[in-house]
Amino acid sequence: MTSPAEHMNEALTLAKKGLLTTRPNPMVGCVITHKNKVIGRGWHKHSGGNHAEVNAIQDVVNNLGQEAESVLKESEMFVTLEPCSTTGKTPPCSEAIKQSGIKRVYIASEDSSQDGFSKKEKDIEIIEGLLRDEARELNRGFFSRIEKKRPFITAKMAIGLDGGIALNTGKSQWITSESSRKDVHKLRAMNEAILTGTGTVKIDNPSLTSRNSGLPEDEVQQPLRVVIDRNKHLTGKENIFSSQAKTLIFSSETSRIQNENSEVFQRSKEDLESLESLMEFLAKEKSINTVLVEAGSVLFDSFVNEQLIDELVLYQAPKILGQDRKTFSKLNETNQKLSTIGFDIKSITTLDKDKKIILKPKY
Ligand SMILES: NC(=O)c1ccc[n+]([C@@H]2O[C@H](COP(=O)([O-])OP(=O)(O)OC[C@H]3O[C@@H](n4cnc5c(N)ncnc54)[C@H](OP(=O)(O)O)[C@@H]3O)[C@@H](O)[C@H]2O)c1
Repeated sequence: MTSPAEHMNEALTLAKKGLLTTRPNPMVGCVITHKNKVIGRGWHKHSGGNHAEVNAIQDVVNNLGQEAESVLKESEMFVTLEPCSTTGKTPPCSEAIKQSGIKRVYIASEDSSQDGFSKKEKDIEIIEGLLRDEARELNRGFFSRIEKKRPFITAKMAIGLDGGIALNTGKSQWITSESSRKDVHKLRAMNEAILTGTGTVKIDNPSLTSRNSGLPEDEVQQPLRVVIDRNKHLTGKENIFSSQAKTLIFSSETSRIQNENSEVFQRSKEDLESLESLMEFLAKEKSINTVLVEAGSVLFDSFVNEQLIDELVLYQAPKILGQDRKTFSKLNETNQKLSTIGFDIKSITTLDKDKKIILKPKY
């Protein structure tokens, strides 16, 4: 006999199909069972399209035809996120569920942007919290935007064994293996924005697009490239203005950038000093759920100082960059108070000769 957790796990697997397409909406999956047998499946593909619950109910109708109406009344639904109860781009799922007559609904994670399906719907038995942690992890960007009012922020660094991220000479060379670099392109595709510093733009001139990630090319949406240009370093001709993706620049004064792929937002000096306020802007005005920081130590340290990094992804190559290296953080030198920041290791995997280490800061 399949357990409720196994059905919810299948719903989570369905939700993941929307990994690259649902943004800024959350990924949601749904399974409907009758006498413990799955009779319908659904997932949310893109904003404006049917929600997972409606697709699953439709799937039951497609599978069972005229029988569907009576069978649904004896059925259970497993949905990874609290059903919506307000009219957005589509009608509320709560209505579709009520009309279907489904008797019991398992919900993995609640959604504070909705008005409480479980508290309102007295005629349906509702069980909340089944695989809640897994469901919250899946949509950690969405939950961060809704609850913390800022995106989930991941910082990525490619480092050698001595913490070197580049050479002081500015001479560029790949630190990590091809497998790690491919993984970075995947990481870019999975984030909605990439933020870098003017230091990195000046030295490396990266284009910061996702290429050959191994993910379905037709689903990859290029992340928005974001740079904070406090001192008008940028001209609009750098590779981050290439036509493959959009670019957003935060600037203090009238910018000299003229580029059709970019938007320049003028912010006050105080706002430009506060990364938190810029992150809030991205969440509120651009509905950005996830940001990947790919900068050097100067900007990285500022993010750490403001305790804004939610996850750190290190790609460590078996190399020593030596005396001429730039290290990935200079916090020890610049901020005594924060000189010992601990991390929980979430995972360590091997990519060719490199190690990929995922860490969560303990602020
Ligand atoms: N190995 C890797 O994974 C990796 C990744 C990225 C970069 N890098 C390397 O890192 C080096 C560049 O690093 P970097 O540290 O010099 O530059 P950076 O961190 O990329 O950019 C720093 C600049 O960003 C601007 N900025 C805007 N807002 C800021 C804020 N709130 N806090 C701090 N800075 C802010 C500052 O310029 P203004 O003061 O003029 O505004 C600052 O000088 C390059 O050699 C590059 O190769 C390595």
